[in-house]
Amino acid sequence: MNVLVFAARKGGSGKSTLTAHLAASRPAKSCLLIDCDPQGSLTLWHKLRNNEELTIRSGLRGVGEIIKSAKKEGFEWVMIDTPPNMSSIVTEAIRAATMVVIPARPTVFDLTSVAETIALCRDVRKPYAVVINGAPAKREGVESPIVSQARAGLSSLNVPLWHGQITNRTNFALSLADGEGVREYDASSFAAAEIAGLWTAIEKSVKVINGASGGSTGVMHKVAA
Ligand SMILES: Nc1ncnc2c1ncn2[C@@H]1O[C@H](COP(=O)(O)OP(=O)(O)OP(=O)(O)O)[C@@H](O)[C@H]1O
Ligand SMILES: [Mg+2]
Repeated sequence: MNVLVFAARKGGSGKSTLTAHLAASRPAKSCLLIDCDPQGSLTLWHKLRNNEELTIRSGLRGVGEIIKSAKKEGFEWVMIDTPPNMSSIVTEAIRAATMVVIPARPTVFDLTSVAETIALCRDVRKPYAVVINGAPAKREGVESPIVSQARAGLSSLNVPLWHGQITNRTNFALSLADGEGVREYDASSFAAAEIAGLWTAIEKSVKVINGASGGSTGVMHKVAA
């Protein structure tokens, strides 16, 4: 079983959005969602979804026991949405992670605040990768200068970074309001293709992480990211 934690100190960077869309792109019974954010965005989406096949649990009082029982129950993936802060619940979730996904918008505010979340992942030696979210659309396959600059800045700090981007698209928000993921909403959309690409990258990284030994996981992951 693998535990994906979506964390970022900055509010509105896309933690709940990515958690929901990635979960909705997987077979419902393979995933357990844990909502650690008192704002309850993921829980709200799950209610709107009205699909009992996908299970969600509240992690407001801790995730340890939930993860233990998820393992026994045979879930393949646990996806944890966290609040935009550095509270003990975020630290606990990150400690339990197989890999931490850190969404960041390509703005100076987001990029500055990812440093804190990254420091936390490094402290507890957890593999992580930053995912650029809410990016301007590519033009003829070329990414926007603001994304290239963000990428250059993060790469210079040796931060593992997903090579793709999640573009700012109304589909990402509209589908959530219907309790859906973008794949369910419009399987042939660019949005659905981006989520599929992100999932492929996560799966690949997690495979490398699981195959790695001891303290080298961060390095191994970096190669895969
Ligand atoms: N790629 C995107 N395209 C369009 N809208 C997006 C995208 N990503 C996020 N949003 C919208 O931006 C807002 C913030 O996203 P979201 O709630 O996922 O961020 P968050 O990191 O979970 O925020 P918080 O820190 O408050 O929990 C939401 O209204 C969401 O619908
Ligand atoms: Mg959220």
